[in-house]
Amino acid sequence: MGAQKVIRFGVIGCGLMGREFASAIGRWMHLSNPKARPSIIAVCDTNPDLMDWFTGNLGSVAQTTTDYRDLLANPEIDAIYCAVPHVLHAQLYVDIIRAGKHLLGEKPFGMDLAQNTAIAAALAENPAVFVRCSSEMPFYPGAQKVINLARSGEMGDIIEVEAGFLHSSDIDPYKVINWKRMEAVNGAYGCMGDLGMHVLHVPLRLGWRPKTVHAQLSKLVRKRPDGKGQMVDCTTWDNATISAQVETDGGHFPMVLKTWRIAPGEANTWYIRVLGMRKSAFFTTKSPRQWQRMDYTAGGAQAWSTEDLGYDSVFPTLTGKIFEFGFTDAIQQMWAAFIDELCGGDANGFACATPDEAGAHHAVLTAALTSGRENRVVQVDYAG
Ligand SMILES: NC(=O)c1ccc[n+]([C@@H]2O[C@H](COP(=O)([O-])OP(=O)(O)OC[C@H]3O[C@@H](n4cnc5c(N)ncnc54)[C@H](O)[C@@H]3O)[C@@H](O)[C@H]2O)c1
Repeated sequence: MGAQKVIRFGVIGCGLMGREFASAIGRWMHLSNPKARPSIIAVCDTNPDLMDWFTGNLGSVAQTTTDYRDLLANPEIDAIYCAVPHVLHAQLYVDIIRAGKHLLGEKPFGMDLAQNTAIAAALAENPAVFVRCSSEMPFYPGAQKVINLARSGEMGDIIEVEAGFLHSSDIDPYKVINWKRMEAVNGAYGCMGDLGMHVLHVPLRLGWRPKTVHAQLSKLVRKRPDGKGQMVDCTTWDNATISAQVETDGGHFPMVLKTWRIAPGEANTWYIRVLGMRKSAFFTTKSPRQWQRMDYTAGGAQAWSTEDLGYDSVFPTLTGKIFEFGFTDAIQQMWAAFIDELCGGDANGFACATPDEAGAHHAVLTAALTSGRENRVVQVDYAG
């Protein structure tokens, strides 16, 4: 076995998602024949305490700093994973791209359309930099089954698509506020900015771009404890239900997109349902090892079938096909796709969300925000 190519990473933002990346790298040997191996050689967070976890768990970290510019000045660093609050995306992503570092940036890839446009402009000026947007849920094997069936063209005319991401912890009115509930840090999209890229990644990849949207936006919990004895305003939208129209060659079909922070009983449910005249398919992370499909021929029976899939991943691993696939596996598969493309591969046919897709998702969310505020149908402007 020859020495494996190493991509040297800096991590900016050592919170929840920064640690998930480190954990995925920790078991990189799980993957069969990846083109390269990521290694975290530098970390940055404005909270110095959070960097100890990285230096304690990874022997590879040679640089720690509270100023991300130190990472951009480090010539040893090839690529950056940036997982910071939304309000900082534009400034940091633009600086990272201009520094010539490859980037996996967290969604929503800019807090709003103006921020996203600034990131796209920096990328246009630096086309040699490889940039992708984080979105891991479509790497579940069941999601891949739905995607591949849709791509096959065998589903017939599409009747309807529904895609959603449902959370429920915010149903607790006493849950202490965090930055994701503050409009100034999370952005005016609220729950749509938090969950919209997850929901739109697959529809946009399949070419299903909403032409118009009508959104229902809900604010259900208006004040939350601040953890210091006071109640403070909770300024973001909790739930959004977007009813979109997607144009096809001969007509159009409805697409429903749900980004809900308050969905009773739903912990982290990502799902997609595609109903077609000849074939239909459904996957939800609630039943992570299964997908459902229905094949229909004129006059025949209409019977859904459920198939257990196990660990049939985009990137092969050492895990036997009969075993379960979960969230941490989806994260690792997304990273495998990023590394594969960075090294000249085709991501085994399913790449991470692209900057163009992130831009299209901003167009949809911007229209949905206007629609929800004014309660009217809004045309989606992809020209920005
Ligand atoms: N892909 C996913 O499934 C997923 C899940 C959760 C969050 N996210 C995204 O990840 C990003 C971060 O979210 P999180 O949940 O990890 O948040 P978090 O609050 O847990 O972590 C963010 C970290 O950024 C640090 N930070 C703030 N300002 C900084 C600066 N100027 N320089 C360096 N570090 C700074 C904070 O101290 C914090 O540790 C967001 O864009 C969010 O949308 C993605």
